[in-house]
Amino acid sequence: MTISCGDADSGNLIVQGDNLDALKALLPRYAGKVKCIYIDPPYNTGNEGWVYNDNVNSPEIKKWLGEVVGKEGETLDRHDRWLCMMYPRLVLLKQFLKDDGAIFISIDDNEVASLRILMDEIFGSNNFVATIAWQKIYTVKNNARHFSEMHDYVIIYALKKKQWERNLLPRSAETDEDYSNPDNDPRGEWTTNALQSRNYYSKGTYEISCPGGNVISGPPKGTYWRMSETSLWELDDDNRVWWGEKGNNSPRIKKFLSEVKDGVVPSTWWEHKFAGTNSGAKTELRSILGDFEEELFNTPKPWQLIQRIIQISTDKDSIVMDSFAGSGSTAHAVLNQNKKDKGSRRFILIEMDKVVSESITSHRMRSVISGYAFKGKKKEELYNVKLTLSNLKNTPEYLEEISKIENDKSEEYTRTKRVLSDNNIVYQIQKCYKIKHLNRYT
Ligand SMILES: C[S@@+](CC[C@H](N)C(=O)[O-])C[C@H]1O[C@@H](n2cnc3c(N)ncnc32)[C@H](O)[C@@H]1O
Repeated sequence: MTISCGDADSGNLIVQGDNLDALKALLPRYAGKVKCIYIDPPYNTGNEGWVYNDNVNSPEIKKWLGEVVGKEGETLDRHDRWLCMMYPRLVLLKQFLKDDGAIFISIDDNEVASLRILMDEIFGSNNFVATIAWQKIYTVKNNARHFSEMHDYVIIYALKKKQWERNLLPRSAETDEDYSNPDNDPRGEWTTNALQSRNYYSKGTYEISCPGGNVISGPPKGTYWRMSETSLWELDDDNRVWWGEKGNNSPRIKKFLSEVKDGVVPSTWWEHKFAGTNSGAKTELRSILGDFEEELFNTPKPWQLIQRIIQISTDKDSIVMDSFAGSGSTAHAVLNQNKKDKGSRRFILIEMDKVVSESITSHRMRSVISGYAFKGKKKEELYNVKLTLSNLKNTPEYLEEISKIENDKSEEYTRTKRVLSDNNIVYQIQKCYKIKHLNRYT
């Protein structure tokens, strides 16, 4: 096993070797210090052609099975062998986590059930946080035998769930697009929440006389108004109730953009639009590495997926670990997030395959740090608003938002295009030249 450092000051590590050995070697220095672990272990699909050794048949694993599991290792079936491979590594990884740290594991249906049971045993079922469904492909494969698989899972366990706090995600033009200001409220753009809810409320059954004259006898069947009559009219006095254009609709409570939390709660559904796709990641890898054996990395993970994990789960100075590093998508994501929020996160990567770690993982890191040209025909849509008669007057604000996005992304992309199609203003980013400067890692 060789351990290599990048820039001596950076604190980043790329380790070449079996992660079982590497983790044991790193443990004395990093035990209890890692805030976020992301791993993308072999999925155990039975596809032996890859260097990933997806079938857990690599000489290293075979040797380990022989030594540790003994003769039985040769006869155990595929799932057992995969579990035998994962178990000691997960036990070790757990010891690296900070008390407020968490582990994120990519997996698909081949092993998700076994992995959940294994993780329940090692981390405790009470520390299970969530399973994310990531939309890894967005086109249906018409030659699929049964279903066209379009998602992977990312399962999340905290070391101590009570101590783990997720960060909110930054608000975006997309998350804010439901807000508008049809009554020119001086508090700015707002959206509304229904007054009724299914939760029982003893004071929530009163009759309401709308300002337009309509009388609503009570909440819809099976629901209750979620505030008392007095509170409703107090809010109305403060122009916080929306009765519709003519003042006769069932009342809705205004929620102002300026008053909502300055972030979005992450959900478990991660669309390709923000989390990327396997094929997008492969195109990007081709741009970074030039010619490389593509079958080595048929399904690399997009840095966008991992960057979101980092946004949700790390502080600016956290250590992020990936012990199945492959092409180094995790390190790429760490560097991108550092650039975005001026952070100083560090990464520890472990990759068993010598060729991969030297000619792909390290090569990628050097290219990302010094900048590379994106050669694909990628078009990324960063803004999309449907123009209607009622929102046409907001065009100056839309243009302002577009300029803001343009400004924010100016270092990542060189060519941008504003497109008007099918009554949608679509702001596209075409052909991008990637990150040239990566703060302290340059
Ligand atoms: C599914 S790939 C990871 C791909 C990576 N997330 C990316 O985006 O490129 C799994 C990687 O783990 C490596 N690997 C498998 N077993 C390992 C082990 N025991 N120790 C270290 N690396 C291992 C494989 O060589 C492979 O590169």
